Amino acid sequence: MRTPLIAGNWKMNGSFEDTNVLLASIEDGLERRAEAAEGKARKVDVLVCPPFVYLETAARAIEDSDIALGAQSVSAEKPGAFTGEICSHMLKDLTCSYVIVGHSERRQLYGETDTTVGKKFKAAAEAGLKPILCVGESLEEREAGKAIDVIKRQIDAVMDIACEKCFENAVIAYEPVWAIGTGETATPEQAQEIHAEIRQMIAARSGKIAKKIRILYGGSVKPANAADIFAMEDIDGGLIGGASLKAEDFLAIIDAA
Ligand code: 13P
Repeated sequence: MRTPLIAGNWKMNGSFEDTNVLLASIEDGLERRAEAAEGKARKVDVLVCPPFVYLETAARAIEDSDIALGAQSVSAEKPGAFTGEICSHMLKDLTCSYVIVGHSERRQLYGETDTTVGKKFKAAAEAGLKPILCVGESLEEREAGKAIDVIKRQIDAVMDIACEKCFENAVIAYEPVWAIGTGETATPEQAQEIHAEIRQMIAARSGKIAKKIRILYGGSVKPANAADIFAMEDIDGGLIGGASLKAEDFLAIIDAA
């Protein structure tokens, strides 16, 4: 049985104050829910991924909680002359356990290629971080019937660069580009179809990893649609953008898992 993971990708949002206020509200909400459920609630892993500059503030805010910390990107390099970059061991210093790699905004706006993403994934996994590999097709690619081909190319590229072992603690996030920040969500059935395909792609390399790897859905997940999406067999939680910035919405999404 895979434990669901609900991860908040804050993107480039927030301030020191917002970070403290939001995390205090999430922590408080989680505590109240745990008390109300009297230990009977299903276990859900909760993760927040603030911008780099707020990681230390976030780490302090959640140190006595079960909330995990992650970053939104990472360098593929080891320490050295790479101006402006942040490497895996720095994220570990900040008590991060996860890192998002290959988010579509990084691919589209900052030119990250399948190869760059593969190298970042490998570096993160080898350093002991749990990489969250984002994959997903654009609207154009979906309409051309190429969604599966695109996702297979994105996953194969990473599998060719990173060893099988690198996938042991990894997470995959299916985020159709057309559903990110648009208010448009894949239907639970559309998402399930892709998630099942992704699990098959992993199974082609390792059946054991395919069974245990968590595949999250991301793209306009809200309290109103979360339960139906998470009810699908191969959907093991969500990567939440906008709704992760409002404690009430993020908590409701955690409840839905
Ligand atoms: P939204 O939830 O705002 O659509 O963003 C999804 C996303 O990109 C999470 O990484």
